[in-house]
Amino acid sequence: MSGIRLHLSVRDLTEVDLPSCGWAGSPKHVRELVHQIRRAEAGEVDYLAVCTRVGLPVGVGGIDYTVRPGAGTLWQLGVHPALQSCGIGTLLVRSAEQRIVTRGPTRAELAVEESNPRALAHYGRLGYRAFGRELESWDVEAEDGSLRRYEAACTLMGKDLA
Ligand SMILES: CC(C)(COP(=O)(O)OP(=O)(O)OC[C@H]1O[C@@H](n2cnc3c(N)ncnc32)[C@H](O)[C@@H]1OP(=O)(O)O)[C@@H](O)C(=O)NCCC(=O)NCCS
Repeated sequence: MSGIRLHLSVRDLTEVDLPSCGWAGSPKHVRELVHQIRRAEAGEVDYLAVCTRVGLPVGVGGIDYTVRPGAGTLWQLGVHPALQSCGIGTLLVRSAEQRIVTRGPTRAELAVEESNPRALAHYGRLGYRAFGRELESWDVEAEDGSLRRYEAACTLMGKDLA
């Protein structure tokens, strides 16, 4: 196997990025990112984009400061399927942690589906420890545009940031 070096930078997601975010989820999910960008402008969340040298996002993820006081809650983390397992998710989490500390909170939290052992292991390696469980639910858009309610048991994980 041979490797190449990718030059990546992390910045705030903008509306201009959205046509290049089709890989991040359903059309509904991508449309709703506009709302998250508005929330970022209002200071409720940060929404980060890991970009290649030409400025295209290959990883995105949000930090919500309204879920738990004193903590930034990471959510909607995703890496382009073609570039998963290359370290981009790790860069995204580390950048989110830096952003949280810069904003003031000293703790990062996130919810991981219990049915996703690779993601659980990934956050464990990054220093996150389970502190509870929660049933989460959200709408998923089917191919025909219809919505289906999806429910999943999640492990709540947290990390105290230095
Ligand atoms: C989870 C995710 C954000 C990690 O980003 P990444 O760039 O692949 O992560 P890194 O390369 O830094 O670290 C690799 C580790 O992430 C986890 N991972 C990689 N691909 C994954 C996938 N498709 N699903 C879940 N976890 C994955 C694994 O633990 C992996 O380690 P491994 O390759 O030894 O199995 C990314 O894989 C992803 O978008 N997965 C699909 C969506 C998802 O499962 N999101 C869960 C968010 S809680």
